[in-house]
Amino acid sequence: MSKQMKQVPDSEISVNANVYDRRHFIKSLVAAGAAISVLPAAGFAANASSRPTFRVGAVGVGGRGRGAMANMREAAEVAGVEVKFVAVADPQESAVEEAGNQFDVPAEYRFVGFDGYRKVLDAGVDVVILATPPSFRPLHFEAAVEAGCHCFIEKPVAVDPPGARRMYATGEEAGRKGLSVVAGTQRRHTNGYLAQRDAIRDGAIGDIVGGKVMWCQNRLWVRNRREGESNAMYLARNWVNFLEVGGDHIVEQHMHNIDVANWFIGRTPSMALGFGGRARRQSGNLYDFFSVDFDYGDNCSIHSMCRQMNGTYTRVGEWLTGTEGALVGGSRVSRFDGRSVDLPEYDLHPNGQVQELVHLLESIVNEEGLNETRDVTDSTVSALMGCLSAYSGSIVRFIDLTEREDSEWYDWKVNPVAEDFEKDEDVYMPEEEVAPVPGTV
Ligand SMILES: NC(=O)c1ccc[n+]([C@@H]2O[C@H](COP(=O)([O-])OP(=O)(O)OC[C@H]3O[C@@H](n4cnc5c(N)ncnc54)[C@H](O)[C@@H]3O)[C@@H](O)[C@H]2O)c1
Repeated sequence: MSKQMKQVPDSEISVNANVYDRRHFIKSLVAAGAAISVLPAAGFAANASSRPTFRVGAVGVGGRGRGAMANMREAAEVAGVEVKFVAVADPQESAVEEAGNQFDVPAEYRFVGFDGYRKVLDAGVDVVILATPPSFRPLHFEAAVEAGCHCFIEKPVAVDPPGARRMYATGEEAGRKGLSVVAGTQRRHTNGYLAQRDAIRDGAIGDIVGGKVMWCQNRLWVRNRREGESNAMYLARNWVNFLEVGGDHIVEQHMHNIDVANWFIGRTPSMALGFGGRARRQSGNLYDFFSVDFDYGDNCSIHSMCRQMNGTYTRVGEWLTGTEGALVGGSRVSRFDGRSVDLPEYDLHPNGQVQELVHLLESIVNEEGLNETRDVTDSTVSALMGCLSAYSGSIVRFIDLTEREDSEWYDWKVNPVAEDFEKDEDVYMPEEEVAPVPGTV
């Protein structure tokens, strides 16, 4: 990444995304002290113009999967490499066909079914996009790393503690293999957030002592059950309404904001105490709202709230207060109490979902081993802590999910699990419209 320092004299600081400069890839290489080369990295094919060419596969080609494929195309342009989409998989034939047609995937490499990820990996891909519902991420990521693939993994990366621990372990294995892994936490790849991160590290707002993070909006979609549809296919399509496949919305959606808090504070919360409830939903088993106190230790607490209810106020973002100032995530308003602060300017693509893939491709070319698995898993676990606290009414600690084998939460897991979908289309069906009741979970 390239950055230049800029003196900002006033107390109201607004950082705008830079107009993107096509030459930034070369600048990034220079900044990183890397040798500039247009030769292909070892192991990758070169095309006629001697650019490295990556064979890319995608697993889960719904809205985000296809979006990430389009972003990958744009990122390749920016990074000065070629990408070729060689295989796609999804249990829905319509999604496979749509992605296949849009990205010119050969007909024999369009795989329909829950075991399609294995076939994509067998097709000899250099890079794989994993954009299924989150409950499948640990299984698919493990297989991808075993196959030696660089990965783009959508967030969140698990829906239960065993899945999260599997992500940590696979992330470490990816590191040992020198693979690059980038997660769909795109705020970490945008100018405004990166500038704030650096300013905080330089002491611009002192120690962060509190704040609030929120994602309040209307509810997401409902995909009703089709006549004769199997449980597995119904859950795969209507996943966003079932905690077993999508996590609840504190995990699936609000984790983006919790991720920013973790990133800026520099650590994960040590415990969570929260509540939530279900009032209006008519599909699946999620809560409508959560309110959680995340205790980060050292007298720092963050209030997290999220709601998905139609007709209610929409507000999404992060507001953090330090001993010497405050900021709003993404840098629209930052108060540094009248002091001059050096804010770096990153020369990045204005769309974080493109830029994160530029960083992935650059990391592969330069053999940098950029690996975001731990960060995205930490934030997934943090959100899960809040979720489980609200479901149960208990205090839940980070170590309950990650280290303490004697904790009641350590082996809390969803049913059905990802592997069940491959074995039998008639997987266990969670009871609809029945949500967890605190005090009884
Ligand atoms: N970073 C972001 O801003 C962002 C935005 C949207 C979605 N997402 C994440 O992307 C993921 C996908 O979300 P989406 O909006 O594309 O949902 P979607 O429903 O549009 O697409 C998911 C696709 O995965 C398929 N699928 C289900 N189980 C599968 C399996 N076992 N193997 C292969 N494919 C499977 C479904 O059939 C569907 O086509 C989620 O984790 C979501 O949280 C991230």
